[in-house]
Amino acid sequence: MKSNAFRIKRGPVLQTEITVPGDKSISHRAIMLAALSNGVCKITNFLEGEDCLSTAAAFRQLGVTIEQTEPGTMIVHGTHGIFTAPAAAIDCGNSGTTMRLMSGILAAQPFTSRLTGDASLRSRPMRRVIEPLTQMGAKIRAEGAGDTPPLIIEGGPLKAITYHTPVASAQVKSAILLAGLYAEGVTTVVEPAPSRNHTERMLEYFLVKLDCDRAKPVAGKECRISLGGRQQIESRDFSVPGDISSAAFWLVAAAAQPGSRLLIKNVGLNPTRTGIIDVLVRMGAQVREVVEVVAQGEPCGVIEIKGGRLHGTVIEGDEIPNVIDEIPIIAIAGALAEGETIIRNAKELRVKETDRIAAIASNLRLMGVEVEEFEDGMKITGGQKLKGAKLPSYGDHRIAMAFTIAGLHASGETIIEDTACVQTSYPGFESTLADIFKRNSMRQKRTPVISSLDSRRRRGKPAQK
Ligand code: S3P
Repeated sequence: MKSNAFRIKRGPVLQTEITVPGDKSISHRAIMLAALSNGVCKITNFLEGEDCLSTAAAFRQLGVTIEQTEPGTMIVHGTHGIFTAPAAAIDCGNSGTTMRLMSGILAAQPFTSRLTGDASLRSRPMRRVIEPLTQMGAKIRAEGAGDTPPLIIEGGPLKAITYHTPVASAQVKSAILLAGLYAEGVTTVVEPAPSRNHTERMLEYFLVKLDCDRAKPVAGKECRISLGGRQQIESRDFSVPGDISSAAFWLVAAAAQPGSRLLIKNVGLNPTRTGIIDVLVRMGAQVREVVEVVAQGEPCGVIEIKGGRLHGTVIEGDEIPNVIDEIPIIAIAGALAEGETIIRNAKELRVKETDRIAAIASNLRLMGVEVEEFEDGMKITGGQKLKGAKLPSYGDHRIAMAFTIAGLHASGETIIEDTACVQTSYPGFESTLADIFKRNSMRQKRTPVISSLDSRRRRGKPAQK
């Protein structure tokens, strides 16, 4: 049984190498596309976090056989996109990705489904998927106030549309593209800025033809993706790379600690997700990033980071979708950096697993940090010593983990309450933390034992010590 609170004291200088569990966004999509495919798919390094297990459970309710043959390995028996009506409501747990992407698939089924979730998910806005899917011909009703779940989806034949998303959202884009697979004609999504493109990359890997800027969507430019309906999805095996959003916690832990050197292996390096590296480099960290393979459409490799003294930066505009899940840990980096860190255009954070702007600001203040809160972000005045404090997690996995890292840099003891939520995206976080402590405390001031890394891509100046 995992503890439901973390007690953290100041951490050691990190000189180690780690891996992180499989990517959450990619694990969801691997189950979905495998279920839609025409045969058996083996998914390895699948993230057994609660969110992705909600997606697997949802497809089992729809009649898909999914076997877990060993830890992290899921065998999915695809049903050509034909599912059976669920006998009960589908519980998406805490997972917005499950609910929004499933909505696209269920909108096309010849039956009615009901999608629900935990209290956090039941407070999240669903108009963003109801609107385009209704334009495609689906009948969707939100039972909660202000278009919040539960959702009742009366599926049926869909028509292709062209849809301009008001904000860059991979969940909305993916819901439309998945619905588009069932529609007659060409479905097009136009995003104001590129969001993570795992759905597009995976569709291509499963031999679906689509038209998009797959390799490197250009920040600041509209991003257009088109896909013809009624295509065969070829069953294929898939290995999930490590999650850069989970790696981000350790990257910041090391970046803000002069003398640290951390190597993270087998981590996803999709350019629509590596904004955290750009931000840390701007803040003064020294980072090497090496893409070792592009496996099943996703670049994967190694990140090495050396800690130093960080300085504040500005994160805003089109960079936001690329770091949307990393803002809590970037805020911690900001608190540990000299000078001001300003985050703007991130209003989306108000409707994540919790209101992350309010949660970050409140917890940072409890640690003695000066924060000015804006409707769409915050200004953090860094450089003060963080004080250990008792902090709520707000039931939000990323708040719990970000403030755990803050606790490693604080004086005294930090207690994070209600940490069961960490299982949402990062089972193993607590044991990696304990392991890092053990290995590094013993090794302090001795020769680092991490492997060296050939530099194909180096970013940032040598760290200031
Ligand atoms: C996700 C997209 C993002 C992200 C979420 C996962 C996905 O949400 O915050 O954690 O897997 O598509 P939005 O699409 O709402 O930006």
